[in-house]
This record gives sequence, C-alpha cells and structure tokens, in this order.
Amino acid sequence: MDTIVSLAKRRGFVFQSSEIYGGLNGCWDYGPMGVEMLNNLKAQWWQHMTYRENVEGLDASILMHPRVWEASGHVENFTDPMVDCRQCKSRFRLDVLFEDISAKRKKDLLKEIEPEKFSARVSDEEIVAAFETAVADPSLAARMLAALPCPTCGNRSTFTDARRFNLMFKTFVGPVEDSSAVVFLRPETAQGIFVNFLNVQSAGRQKIPFGIAQIGKAFRNEINTKNFLFRTREFEQMEMQFFVKPGTDDHWFEYWRAERLAWFSSLGMKPEKLRWHRHEPGSLAHYAKDAYDIEYQFPFGWGEIEGIHNRTDYDLSRHEEFSGKSLKAQDESSKERFTPYVIETSAGASRSFMAFLIDAYHEDQAPTGEGTVETRVVLRLHPKLAPMKIAIFPLVNRDGMPEFARAIEKELRPSFRVFYDDSGAVGRRYRRQDEIGTPFCVTVDSQTLTDQTVTVRDRDSMAQERVSASQLRAYFIGRLL
Ligand code: GAP
Repeated sequence: MDTIVSLAKRRGFVFQSSEIYGGLNGCWDYGPMGVEMLNNLKAQWWQHMTYRENVEGLDASILMHPRVWEASGHVENFTDPMVDCRQCKSRFRLDVLFEDISAKRKKDLLKEIEPEKFSARVSDEEIVAAFETAVADPSLAARMLAALPCPTCGNRSTFTDARRFNLMFKTFVGPVEDSSAVVFLRPETAQGIFVNFLNVQSAGRQKIPFGIAQIGKAFRNEINTKNFLFRTREFEQMEMQFFVKPGTDDHWFEYWRAERLAWFSSLGMKPEKLRWHRHEPGSLAHYAKDAYDIEYQFPFGWGEIEGIHNRTDYDLSRHEEFSGKSLKAQDESSKERFTPYVIETSAGASRSFMAFLIDAYHEDQAPTGEGTVETRVVLRLHPKLAPMKIAIFPLVNRDGMPEFARAIEKELRPSFRVFYDDSGAVGRRYRRQDEIGTPFCVTVDSQTLTDQTVTVRDRDSMAQERVSASQLRAYFIGRLL
C-alpha cells in the first residue's frame, strides 16, 4: 500500500488534503494525473450506464430538505457504535477496533473471558468465528473491551460503553444557526434520485422499467478513516436506481449484477481479484430484500467497491409517507397503480479509482540504454482510463527533430491528452510515462527526417513499430477511442 500511496503523490495522482497545514484526516485531493484518471473512470461509467434508452441521468443537489433523511431512515439508523478512551480521549468504531486485532490476540482475549472453553488448541478460523459471536453479545463485548488496551495510549479498562454515533455531517441554511435551520451533507446520492423519480419519469417520457443514474459527492463522518481512499469522509459515488414492477425485481437484480461485474472486467480489472460477497439474511440493511457486494482484493484484504441491492419499495413508500405525495406508477395494460421496486447499483468512484490504480501497478524488467536491465514501474491502466494517452519525444533537441515533434503534438492535441517531453535520455522519458500509465510514446528520430516515419512504443510489451507521421491520428483513433 505504501508503494501505491507514494507513487500517487510523486506522480500527481492523489495528495493529502490541506497537506501544508498537516492534512485533514479522511480527505484527499486529486492531482493533475488523478483528476484525469477519475474523470475518465466516471465518463466510462456514465457511458456504460446511460447510453441506453431506459436509463436517464440526473445531477441532484448535495443539500436536501431535512425530512428526506428522516424518510430514508438515515437520521435514525445511519449510526455506528463507537467507544471513547477515557484516558487519551481517542474515539474508535467498535467493529473496527475488534476487526484490527490479530488471530492470536483474539484467542488470548477469548481465553481471558472464557478460559475453560478456549484454552484448548483451536484453529484460527474457529477463533475468528467464536470472536464474531462474542462481539455480537453486548455483555461479552463489554468484558473484552475491558481487557483490551487502547491502541493509542495502551491503557486498559479505559473504554466507555459503546454509544451510537450518526455519520451525517450537519450544517445550517441561512444566517441563524438553530435547530430549524439544520441540513445534512448527503451521505449517499441515491435519495436525490428517489425524490426526483416522477420528475425524471415524465421529463424523459419513461415507462417502468427504467433507471436514473447519478455521479456525485457524498459525505460521511467516518469515525475511523483508513487505507488511503478506501474509507474517507468525502468521496464520490456512481449510483443508479432502476425502477421495476414488483415480481420482476429478481430478474432485474440478476441482470444488473452481471452488467456491473462485466464493467470492471471490461476496463481490465483482473478477474481473480474480484469476487461476490452476498449479505446474509441477518445482516441485510433494513430496506433490502437481497444484496451483493463486488469485492476487490486490496493489499490489506478483500473490500467492497460496489453494492447491488434490491431495495424493494421501501424508499418510494417512505417518501410517499413523509411528503404526502404519491410516487406510484401505472401498469400500462391493467391500469393498476403500484409503488415500484428499486434495484440499486452503488459504486464508489473513489474506491474504484484506488482499485484500478492498485490493479494496474506492476514491476517488471526493462532494458537500459547501457545494455543491462533494470526494474521498471509500470501502470498497466486500460487506455480508456489512462490519464495521459500519448507522449511525444524528439530523440535529440536539434536537427529539426523538436520542430517535427511539435507539429505532431499540434495535430494530436485536439483529440487526445498528450504530453511533450524533450528532457533527459529517451529511456528515462519512457520510464516516466510508464509510471503514469501512458499507453503510447511517439519518438521522432533521424530516420523521421528522411522518410517521415516515427517510432510508436507500446507501454506493456515495450515493442516499437514505425508508423508514418501522416497516419498517426488514424492509428491512435483505432487504439484509444
Ligand atoms: N446508496 C447505497 C449506498 O450508499 P454503501 O454500501 O453505503 O451503499 C456504496 O456505499 C459505495 O460507496 C461503496 O461500495 C463504496 O464503494 C462507496 N463508499 C461508501 N462509504 C465510503 C467511504 N467512507 N469512503 C469511500 N467510499 C465509500
């Protein structure tokens, strides 16, 4: 992970927010390469999800009427249990505190609270299962908490009882900061879609089944942020709500599951690094009939990058109840009115960005100019995600090569994100582009001046071919667009 975080900073993908002031926990800034790649990722999602006749786009506001969050259940349920250390005042999410303990430590803790049961030899899997059962039992969890040292100050028996903490950020509309002016920064983009269901349906002249897609920022006051972009306080979601007739929901659930997994693979994510995690009936969200996560194998373990949920008619029914407005649809043939079910696909743009970055990271052996080999770092990003598409180099800065290379740059720049580089040995220039994942490098050399051909070098194979300069644009259109 440290290698990725340091590459991300060095090459301008991701910086810590407010770094010169010591940073702001859980917030990150996308640098010149990062913003290009994130925009490419979002554009690919947008194209995949909305270039269909039955999905419309939306960009709803981040601040919404406070009743929205009462109707959605966020005011009541969007909470995490957390504990404070009385000694050093550090605050922890209860599940994260227990999650971060090693298998050996878990066994020791279980032995402390139930010596007769756990003194015998038991496997790590049995320990993990027993530990999860114990954590779910409030009295056993409290006894384990008492035995656990605080990760910050190391003191024991200093934790408070677990309390619920709402993850929504609050702010105020208007100049008076009283309770009637409280609004929330949205913790998910989905609610903007639900409350606009009828507007979009009538403006788009859509009939059930149809979907509404949206990309936007979401905010959660996570107690413990961790693992770079994985759990942050400000992040972007790419969500789509597909409204269907009850009874057809299982079919559409399977349809969107297949579509979404295929999307990650179509952009080059390694299939063996992706898996499904089905939510057990007991752990389903209060609104869900069925739910699967697409998980990616990060260096710190498997983690969710997208959730596919059958949200039933929960959201629309609740908004009907709280707003007093009908959000029903009509069956075309029977004229019967019904509240649609919703199949939701909810991906994190920021988390997917991190997964694509990690998946693309490779180290291999590359020849040097001196006839030896060296380790090169290469981001094997799908060309559609790569922040920079083509680099253009004059081999040397004389003999008319820079002028020729600049003419190529001028021709390609309106169609592609290109980078002109004339400094240092050409091998070093290749390495710099490999590190940011540029799929192609074009070099103008002495042969160019006689036959108007250039070398085009492929990032992954490092193979070079000569292409006529007049054919370059067409060559890249075929490979990059
Ligand atoms: N509307 C449903 C919903 O928001 P979720 O599972 O809470 O479901 C969906 O979030 C996706 O949003 C996750 O799969 C993840 O990619 C992303 N996400 C959620 N919380 C996040 C956080 N704190 N930091 C970064 N991404 C997050």
